[in-house]
Amino acid sequence: MAASLLRKPASSDLLGVGLLLLLLVVLCDRSVGKPLEESTDKRSNTPKPPVVLIPGDLGNQLEARLNKSTVVHYMCYKKTDFFTLWLNLEQMVPVIIDCWIDNIRLIYNRTTHTSSSPPGVEIRVPGFGQTYPLEYLDPSKRPVGMYFFNIVQQLVEGGYTRDDDIRGAPYDWRRAPNENKDYFLKLQNMIEEMAEKPQIWKDKYIKAFISLGAPWAGVAKTLRVVASGDNNAIPVIRPLKIRSQQRTAVSTSWLLPYAHSWPKDKIFVQTPTFNYTVMDYQRFYKDVGFEDGWFMRQDTEPLVSDLKPPGVETHCLYGSGVPTPESFHYSNKFPEVDPTVLYGDGDGTVNLISALQCKTWQTSQPWIISRKCCSHPETLVGKKRVWNLG
Ligand SMILES: *[C@@H]1O[C@H](CO)[C@@H](O)[C@H](O)[C@H]1NC(C)=O
Ligand SMILES: *[C@@H]1O[C@H](CO)[C@@H](O)[C@H](O)[C@H]1NC(C)=O
Ligand SMILES: *[C@@H]1O[C@H](CO)[C@@H](O)[C@H](O)[C@H]1NC(C)=O
Repeated sequence: MAASLLRKPASSDLLGVGLLLLLLVVLCDRSVGKPLEESTDKRSNTPKPPVVLIPGDLGNQLEARLNKSTVVHYMCYKKTDFFTLWLNLEQMVPVIIDCWIDNIRLIYNRTTHTSSSPPGVEIRVPGFGQTYPLEYLDPSKRPVGMYFFNIVQQLVEGGYTRDDDIRGAPYDWRRAPNENKDYFLKLQNMIEEMAEKPQIWKDKYIKAFISLGAPWAGVAKTLRVVASGDNNAIPVIRPLKIRSQQRTAVSTSWLLPYAHSWPKDKIFVQTPTFNYTVMDYQRFYKDVGFEDGWFMRQDTEPLVSDLKPPGVETHCLYGSGVPTPESFHYSNKFPEVDPTVLYGDGDGTVNLISALQCKTWQTSQPWIISRKCCSHPETLVGKKRVWNLG
């Protein structure tokens, strides 16, 4: 199929042929059965159903990384980083197209009934959940590769927002559904997520989100809690006594500092034999005799680690200037002993670096920033105010 299309001259017809498109409107209760034109009208108050665009065959970008020992022509690359394999007009010229075919082809195995890329070729689908991989198949946005752009643009003019209530679901279109199981799971999850918490729902029900000293990047003191227990300065409770209870709370392990914000070489726990950083949790749990904790951490670490912006008016409040536990020095009795505590900035519990992470939404809530509402970018999250309670 790819080959037959490519023999045609490069024109915008190229992609018109044989491309099947699916426009999926995630139905919200109020909009069931209503025609799309009506519900995209900016002026009406009808909720807009979220839209998922599922491209047709050849209908989204693919990227490849090569590490081949043999190639079909001396001009073909053997080793590369990820580059655009589809659509890439530079690859459609004589000779180079043979390299391209040798990279994009699949090899079928009739024993396992599965297909795979040739040895040394790794293919990935960029931008799942975003519209760009199917608005233009050619990242340079040449007209020949224009695909969903006009549809997306029309919907955006009707009040939709790219990558929010209109999203793309690109996939490896070389494969049939039987070999795209992971894709369908991702698609299902995305649709459920969009139906469950669409922007319209947030707009309707959420006035604002106030992050009051929230530990977006974890809290250093949890490492002490896991290692030797923490009585929170209540003298009648022996830390080692309550440690076993404190450890069983999965949320404690969830709150360990996160590598996305803390320096990877920061020493949180120092002992005579080892210094533990955010990269050493598996060993840390083993050494303190609590290996279940490592499983708990892995179960919970992805929950909010992508720091996805809330998509509603956000107020980021935090405290600073209060000594806040930041690292712990243990004697050779580790972990059966209280540590010496070293302090950093924060509100006494939440380290400043962790509370400040909600400020990163200033750049990652583009649909809010683009409304150009703000006069003091330094003190705003999107169009939203940030108050420093410190
Ligand atoms: C590239 O392939 C060679 C031989 O198959 C392998 O030894 C090497 O680790 C690969 N390199 C990378 C970066 O994957
Ligand atoms: C097909 O897969 C089977 C099982 O993994 C393997 O033994 C066989 O060598 C493969 N055949 C080809 C032609 O690669
Ligand atoms: C731990 O870090 C401290 C401070 O950087 C260093 O002096 C010490 O030698 C390190 N200990 C180990 C066991 O690496």
